[in-house]
Amino acid sequence: MTFPSLFLAFFLLTSSFSPLAAGSSAAYPIIPGTVDTSVSAAPSDDLIPVRREVYDDGKLFDITHRYTSDMPVWESDDGLGQFLWLPKSMKNGSLANNSEMKLPTHTGTHVDAPGHVFDHYFDAGFDVDTLDLEVLNGCPALLVDVPRDTNLTAEAMKSLNIPQGVRRVLFRTLNTDRKLMFKKQFDTSYVGFTKDGAQWLVDNTDIKFVGVDYLSVAAWTDLIPSHLVFLDSREIILVEALKLDGIKPGIYSVHCLPLRLIRAEGSPIRCILMK
Ligand SMILES: *[C@@H]1O[C@H](CO)[C@@H](O)[C@H](O)[C@H]1NC(C)=O
Ligand SMILES: *[C@@H]1O[C@H](CO)[C@@H](O)[C@H](O)[C@H]1NC(C)=O
Ligand SMILES: *[C@@H]1O[C@H](CO)[C@@H](O)[C@H](O)[C@H]1NC(C)=O
Repeated sequence: MTFPSLFLAFFLLTSSFSPLAAGSSAAYPIIPGTVDTSVSAAPSDDLIPVRREVYDDGKLFDITHRYTSDMPVWESDDGLGQFLWLPKSMKNGSLANNSEMKLPTHTGTHVDAPGHVFDHYFDAGFDVDTLDLEVLNGCPALLVDVPRDTNLTAEAMKSLNIPQGVRRVLFRTLNTDRKLMFKKQFDTSYVGFTKDGAQWLVDNTDIKFVGVDYLSVAAWTDLIPSHLVFLDSREIILVEALKLDGIKPGIYSVHCLPLRLIRAEGSPIRCILMK
């Protein structure tokens, strides 16, 4: 395992303990993606954490990417970099370990709220806390394979023959085959929605949950236009950078929960698919 067990502390944002000793305020740095062997002796067999993609005898899939310093972020060659620290550590006399994190809200598997591309929606408060949890959670959710030789164009959407009434669709594309979310360098040649592809979905389907497998729902060359088409009605929710490797296409129940970040137009989101 290359990920440090300290990732388990990801959501330990606030401290409910006071530090025991003075001098414990200096941050003890954690470098995600590395194991600091100076910190502890080699773990014994029963102290090796299990990290899984699939649970419940193959019926539950984690479709969220792990947050690591090497994961790609928007328009950067260098990846996310350090985003997690341990300002209170037992090694330095604190009663407990308490991590702190800092990361852009559109990092890794995340959701876009209408305020992302509409300033008046942002000002009016259409943040991630206002997103409909019923759209983000439920059955059916359709996992479809998009032909690998195309962006998400009107023609490609038409060819998928998505039945009327389906409200949640996860589009698996060439991005998954190219393992783009596992590459540090941001790649503008990812597959995404063209403006006409987004418009076709809005005009011809009942889809309210649009899931994609790279950092943006919109193709690089149609970045803003495609977002505008999707988010204008404030009814469609965009879930980006899903981890869709190795799952059979078909009908599932999806469960996605964003953080309740008031006045944020994006949020990390944990998503699972269940058979
Ligand atoms: C403890 O804090 C000091 C600074 O006060 C720092 O140099 C050191 O790396 C820390 N060690 C641990 C194990 O947290
Ligand atoms: C964090 O706490 C655990 C005990 O729960 C301890 O074994 C570990 O060394 C601590 N890590 C640091 C960096 O203080
Ligand atoms: C999709 O569009 C991008 C530009 O946004 C382009 O670089 C890429 O080659 C296209 N991919 C396919 C499969 O057509």
